[in-house]
Amino acid sequence: MAMYDNDNTVRTSFDLDYISEYLQQAQWAELVELKKLIVELAAEKGRPISILDIGVGNARVPKRLSGIHEIWEMVSCYDGTDNAKACIELAEKEIASLGIGNKTFIHFFEATTLDQ
Ligand SMILES: C[S@@+](CC[C@H](N)C(=O)[O-])C[C@H]1O[C@@H](n2cnc3c(N)ncnc32)[C@H](O)[C@@H]1O
Repeated sequence: MAMYDNDNTVRTSFDLDYISEYLQQAQWAELVELKKLIVELAAEKGRPISILDIGVGNARVPKRLSGIHEIWEMVSCYDGTDNAKACIELAEKEIASLGIGNKTFIHFFEATTLDQ
């Protein structure tokens, strides 16, 4: 069983009530950097880019990105992977409720086997 299949770990890892102020700020800072990178790469390639998210969790990142129309337009395909079934279920529900399943795909995948 992957660490994030434990119910309590899943609840406390993704619930803002359990995430420290420091970590929440770090998550926002990470998103700011990610948005910059998407803009730069899409401009460099002259087309929307595809993203591979290893450890997608509850789909927090595609949720935030898809909330910014100009950024989401620069993404052609978002593949989110995770090795915890509980996270896959959460992420799939989130993607369905956001209606972004046309270009967001969730895969059960163990990242340590990526080279295979
Ligand atoms: C700290 S959470 C981050 C989730 C999400 N990326 C976010 O920023 O909100 C780490 C995620 O990576 C997943 N993970 C950890 N080790 C993994 C592995 N070896 N293969 C695939 N996923 C893994 C966990 O199940 C968990 O969902």
